[in-house]
Amino acid sequence: MNKIFPVYLRVPVIFFSVFMAMEYFIDSGDRPAFLKYPMISVFLAVFLFLLIAIEIVVSAIDNVTYHLLTDEQRKQLEEAESISITETKTYLKIKKWFVKSRPIEEEGQLLLDHDYDGIKELDNDLPPWWTKLFYACILFGFVYMAKYHLFGEPDQTQEFEIEMAEAKIAVEEYKKTAKDLIDFETVTLLTEAEDMASGKKVFETNCIACHRPDGGGSIGPNLTDENWILGGGIKNVFHTITEGGRDGKGMVAWKGTLKPSEIQQVASYVLSLKGTDPKDAKPAEGDIWVDESAPKTETPKTEEAKVVAQN
Ligand code: HEC
Repeated sequence: MNKIFPVYLRVPVIFFSVFMAMEYFIDSGDRPAFLKYPMISVFLAVFLFLLIAIEIVVSAIDNVTYHLLTDEQRKQLEEAESISITETKTYLKIKKWFVKSRPIEEEGQLLLDHDYDGIKELDNDLPPWWTKLFYACILFGFVYMAKYHLFGEPDQTQEFEIEMAEAKIAVEEYKKTAKDLIDFETVTLLTEAEDMASGKKVFETNCIACHRPDGGGSIGPNLTDENWILGGGIKNVFHTITEGGRDGKGMVAWKGTLKPSEIQQVASYVLSLKGTDPKDAKPAEGDIWVDESAPKTETPKTEEAKVVAQN
């Protein structure tokens, strides 16, 4: 063992395998793990130190045992150590896998009587690794045929389709939990007190200059009535806040400043102001907004409201 894998190879090889394993398994982004996490450098240094210490201890023990051996035992040991690598059992075992040709002196017996203008042919055995691989391929063929053609396991196309379907479900799940992936198609009205409080905060920081703290409107329109210039309901309001109002009116697009989740909160807050009827509010602008996606049974009621409002 010492001969095939001497200490000056053993220590670096073990050390670098551990090093590479750590780099592989520890997720450290675009920087090497041992730079990102100093603890890893410390660990590696201690590991290297221990590795060297173990080698030193083992060789010291070997030394001591050598001195304790009888002369006969020493002779045996020296004999065992004197054989070259090519004579060791492990080497011969490995060699058997690769070559099975006869020694060159016996080639005469293998010579076939084929003779192509002087080029002759030997009848050597095939290399054992090759024949074993060949048998393994045949076995694989049977397993493959049974799996896909007899037992009907999904083939590549079906596997692809199954995985795509699963991924689609996973993406839907992810979208549900990832707050900032909402857009005006998927946005929903929030009602939790916590969201309302956050929405109010966003409103007070960004919007009151034009819409007044109570939403009654000054430069911007009244946000508390049923009339909307750009459409009411969570989807339209979310869209207006994200993309801004009509050109030149003063309502900018907030998508660069606010996160989608914040826009959802402030839009929900704005909608909660409906009907608060603040003092000196700006007169209604735009049309009364009717939610077309609402259940049909409610339509007559809203129609009525429209008529009343127009009178
Ligand atoms: C610089 C002034 C200004 C600021 C700040 C402002 N808005 Fe506006 N907002 C306006 C104007 C002006 C309009 C009308 C746009 C139009 O007519 O196209 C408007 C329209 C709107 C509308 C649509 C109203 C309707 O009737 O359709 C909503 C909703 C709205 N703003 C919400 C907000 C929110 C939420 C904020 C803060 C994040 C905000 N605004 C900040 C000026 C402002």
